Amino acid sequence: IKHGTIYEAIGGFDTIDRLVTAFYKRVGKHPDLIPIFPEDLTETARKQRLFLTQFFGGPRLYEEERGQPMMRRRHLPFPITPTRRDAWLSCMKEALDEAEIEEPYRSVIFEKLTLTANHMMNKLD
Ligand code: HEM
Repeated sequence: IKHGTIYEAIGGFDTIDRLVTAFYKRVGKHPDLIPIFPEDLTETARKQRLFLTQFFGGPRLYEEERGQPMMRRRHLPFPITPTRRDAWLSCMKEALDEAEIEEPYRSVIFEKLTLTANHMMNKLD
């Protein structure tokens, strides 16, 4: 296990880029997620690259552009049910495979995102 940040260990911005691309490719096709996401996911993916960079210990790019993350608050306009949380996490699981992120980082990343996804739920099915 390398020391330092997860961001560095997995290969920095290039890897985050591949992960986010693989992720939104799936979000855009997922029947449970399509209704709440914009049709064009370019801008959503761009912000997510900034966010995940800082979330995994890289430069604080998201804050520089968007200010305090306040992720739960930013998600309140969208009905995020347990079904949608599961859908989001299943897209992410597949994206981690496609981006070929290896253990132990894959599991560490998935666990951290699972906690955050749970925190984002704001509505029952
Ligand atoms: C934005 C859904 C979990 C990070 C969004 C948007 C939706 C959404 C609909 C707005 C897209 C747009 O208008 O561009 C969901 C659902 C989740 C979830 C259904 C399931 C639990 C998460 C998690 C994270 C995250 C776990 C971070 C680890 C973001 C970021 C944005 C975003 C960074 C952009 C915020 C901004 O506008 O600055 N999400 N999200 N989301 N989401 Fe999520």
